[in-house]
Formats: sequence, structure tokens, C-alpha cells
Amino acid sequence: MTESEIFAVMIDGQVVAQDQARISVFDRGFLYGDSIYEVMRTYDGKIFALREHIDRLFRSAEQVFIDIPVSKDRLSQEILHAASLLELPNLLIRVHITRGIGPYGLDPTGARQPTRVMIVVPLLVPSEDQYRDGIAAALFQSQRTTDNTSAAGAKVANYLVSLLALRQAHAVGAKEAIIVDGRGRVLEGASSNVFIVRSGVIRTPPVNEGILSGITRSYLLKAAAHEGLELRETSLTQTELLDADEVFVSSTTREVLPVTRIDDRTIGTGKVGPITRAIHRAFRAIGGLPAILPGNRPNSTQ
Ligand code: PDD
Repeated sequence: MTESEIFAVMIDGQVVAQDQARISVFDRGFLYGDSIYEVMRTYDGKIFALREHIDRLFRSAEQVFIDIPVSKDRLSQEILHAASLLELPNLLIRVHITRGIGPYGLDPTGARQPTRVMIVVPLLVPSEDQYRDGIAAALFQSQRTTDNTSAAGAKVANYLVSLLALRQAHAVGAKEAIIVDGRGRVLEGASSNVFIVRSGVIRTPPVNEGILSGITRSYLLKAAAHEGLELRETSLTQTELLDADEVFVSSTTREVLPVTRIDDRTIGTGKVGPITRAIHRAFRAIGGLPAILPGNRPNSTQ
């Protein structure tokens, strides 16, 4: 982000000018990545799945023992206010809660005033050709920060593994990294959930494998049921991923984004598959969004 980009910030409920948007170097979010966050978006000025994002934020907070100092309703009001600060139809809203400042040192117990920060920026979405042709992804072998801890699946802001994975993916021209653990199990993307299609059945790793319980993912579970598509939450191996007929990733900003190449392997026919399109359409229908898929817009100039 550069100073010339437009964005809006609120810190602890107060609107703050762009050049005044600062928090202390003693904030544990800065010192230890001791914080949690959510990313939501608007469609034509309306925040998508606000309640689900708030619920997940509070669940993440519980998992890492951060006591969010405001109620869910108050936080929702603040988020709506933050979103109203930029007059654009499609926004990305980051809601970030750090443990705040405490006695210097690792021990979190003395830090009792979490800091809440909201950052609102114009939304950037994948290009139409990425939806039309699919993207390339790259595998990345790793554990994540919270794996095998009681905080597994919390949206903690320490995204070091994801950013290393994405950096490596970008270095080989891929748009997303897919994290595979030490046992060859596919977990999720750097910032997305992963799905495969094989013989007409959609599969995605279960939440108890420590993945983020994606809001888009939860809508896709409903969308599949609504559409009569079979979607199973089961472990996935790297081999199953590479041998799939179709692969796609899901996230708030990307909705359903087809993956047609992983490392040097072509997925299926190398074209976006029918089930990926069907579930994307169904997602838009149950989410109350216009039926036309991004990347499939007649006469679009984007
Ligand atoms: N990230 N898995 C990870 C690791 C993520 O960071 C995300 C989203 C998802 C998808 O979750 P959802 O459908 O709720 O967006 C899965 C957001 C978009 C981000 O950090 O930018």
C-alpha cells in the first residue's frame, strides 16, 4: 500500500486520517503477531456475510484468549461505519484485533486492552481471464503457525508461512500456493480453501485438519446441497489433488477461482470444468448475488 492509495482507517472506534493511522511499537500485534483478523467485502455497498465474519472473529479470539472489548453488535456498527467511509460499491474491509500493549515480554497475561483496527480499501478481484482460463497454483510443503495447537483454524494474523508460500508461487508465475503438510495431506491455499472434483464428486479437506473454516467454503457446502452436487469433507492427498478432474480455490475476494495447473501438471483437460462453474453459479444464487459469473460477462470491458 502506498500513501497515494485511498483507504479509510478506524482505530478503537475512531476514524483516523490516513497519515495518522499508527499504533504503538509496543503493541503485541507488532511485536509477536499476537493478533487475529477478518477480511470481508462489499457487493454494491452491502457487506457480504457480516454476521458470519463477526462470529468467526470472536471464535478466533477465544482460541487465542484475546478478550474483544466490544460486543458483536457494537463491532458490527463500527464495521458498517468504516465501510461507509469510502464511497465505492466494492470494498475490502479488514478488521484486525491485537492483544494490545502489556508488560514488556512474551507473557500475554498483563495485556488487557486489545487494539482494534479497521482498514477499508477498494476491492481488487481476479481478472476475467483468470476466471475464464483458471490460474496456476504451486505446492508448498509446510506446517502452519497454529497446527497441532488448540488455536488450529483460528485466523491469527501471523501469515508468515502463507506469505513465503505465495512468494515462492509468484516466483514461478503461479497465482496461489497450496499448502501440503509433512504427511502429503493437502490443507488449504495461502489465503483460500481448496476443492477438487473427481468423477463428479467435490471434495475438500475437513475443518478438523486445522484449516480456516472459510466463509465462502461454508456457502459452497450449502450451494452444493442446493444444486444437488455431492460435496464431501474428506482428507485429500497431494496425488489426489494432482489427479483431479477439476480443482478450484475459494475465498471472500475470489469467490470460486478455477485452478487449471499445479506446478508442472495440467489439471484435468486444462480447461475450467463444468462442476466448478456450476458451484460458482450456485454460490452466487444462494449468496443473493447477480447470476453472471466474473469472467463470464458478455460485453464486459474489464
Ligand atoms: N483469507 N484459508 C486461508 C488461510 C485464508 O486466509 C482464507 C481467506 C481462506 C478463505 O476464507 P474466506 O472464504 O472466509 O475468505 C481460507 C482472506 C481473504 C485474506 O486473508 O485475505
